[in-house]
Amino acid sequence: MKTITILGATGSIGINTLDVIKRHRQIYKVTALTANRQVDRMVSLCQEWSPRYAVMADAEAAERLEQRLKKLNVVVEVLSGIDGLTFVASLAEVDIVMAAIVGSAGLLPTLAAAQAGKRVLLANKEALVMSGQLFMDAVRINGAELLPIDSEHNAVFQCMPPRFKIPSSSHDELVGVSRILLSASGGPFRSYPIDQLDDVTPDQACAHPNWSMGRKISVDSATMMNKGLEVIEACWLFSLPPNRVDVLLHPQSVIHSLVEYVDGSVLAQLGNPDMRTPIAHALAWPERMSSGVPRLNLVEISRLDFEDVDFERFPCLKLAYDAMSAGGTTSTILNAANEIAVQAFLEERLRFSAIPKVIETTLSKFSGRAANSLEIILEDDARARELAKSVIRN
Ligand SMILES: NC(=O)c1ccc[n+]([C@@H]2O[C@H](COP(=O)([O-])OP(=O)(O)OC[C@H]3O[C@@H](n4cnc5c(N)ncnc54)[C@H](OP(=O)(O)O)[C@@H]3O)[C@@H](O)[C@H]2O)c1
Repeated sequence: MKTITILGATGSIGINTLDVIKRHRQIYKVTALTANRQVDRMVSLCQEWSPRYAVMADAEAAERLEQRLKKLNVVVEVLSGIDGLTFVASLAEVDIVMAAIVGSAGLLPTLAAAQAGKRVLLANKEALVMSGQLFMDAVRINGAELLPIDSEHNAVFQCMPPRFKIPSSSHDELVGVSRILLSASGGPFRSYPIDQLDDVTPDQACAHPNWSMGRKISVDSATMMNKGLEVIEACWLFSLPPNRVDVLLHPQSVIHSLVEYVDGSVLAQLGNPDMRTPIAHALAWPERMSSGVPRLNLVEISRLDFEDVDFERFPCLKLAYDAMSAGGTTSTILNAANEIAVQAFLEERLRFSAIPKVIETTLSKFSGRAANSLEIILEDDARARELAKSVIRN
């Protein structure tokens, strides 16, 4: 029996993870589930899964959850706050941690899982973008296993040479790899008139043509900051510089990414756009198990299209490449400014087209420095948030 903590259990990745596990109850046992404020959803999950622990990041939500569970006679230990999250991410009795909290809130619990040497299934790309080297060092030093859940990185991992591991221990593991091509659907505004992007609403931005996801990542997909964060994530996961990680627009989202080799071979991973495939892959690796995803029907799909990315339409992608090249805490600042700008857009306090401007202005006012410690990373994250808020206010 393998035991699992699901950080972000009430979200899109969390629910998909539980859907996969439901098909393999004889192999996986849910030990802990976490959320932020969605008490109703957590009550149902506790009733269904009987975890040992349920954690709400929000203390008041934790109190409400505890009362509700007591009334229902559901015996679950309820914890709260960052201490509760890091506690269940590093429990001795847990083998696997699904890191699916959205945004920077996931950093400390995801890092705690790495430090505890767990198999970490990484959906929370923001944690890696914020802390890059520090996070990879924690994985390496503590013998954790890092498996990518982002469909693109999971696809790349599947197409890597058989001896490749994350983190790679030497460059020999990458011999023959010339570059990675991350697929991108282009989101809902791939061909939308640029001059009308000013007026798009949060609901329009969240209406992704191929994937059903949480609202933050949906907006990131619409600006293509999501792809930018993925470029940074790929550099860390696969030990490659940004000039060997390219982005390929592929509107159908059937090819999830590709690895190009020096002999001219290009390996790709294909599948229906459904997160249960990378989740099942990472849970079962190096074995395979069923995920509930329908078979890919290439005849029905009949054609696959590709385009270059237009950086003018998607300035966030260029900002992310530049941040990764700049190094240090520049990616932390980029991520923080993006989170603040996306939140303001979702709350209708900022226009869609102003998101990259807020990030660019924040980066121009605040230079990154060497990301030597967690303190420095958290300090620059907090300062970048304040700066981005002031940029939005003015
Ligand atoms: N969705 C996808 O298909 C997809 C694909 C690839 C990668 N990812 C990545 O996976 C992560 C999760 O994405 P998602 O789409 O599943 O997000 P989501 O649907 O918005 O769910 C986010 C989860 O995080 C919890 N959460 C939010 N704020 C928190 C906080 N401050 N402290 C602790 N927990 C908090 C939420 O709890 P409440 O429900 O209580 O708010 C929820 O359980 C993101 O990093 C995203 O980039 C997602």
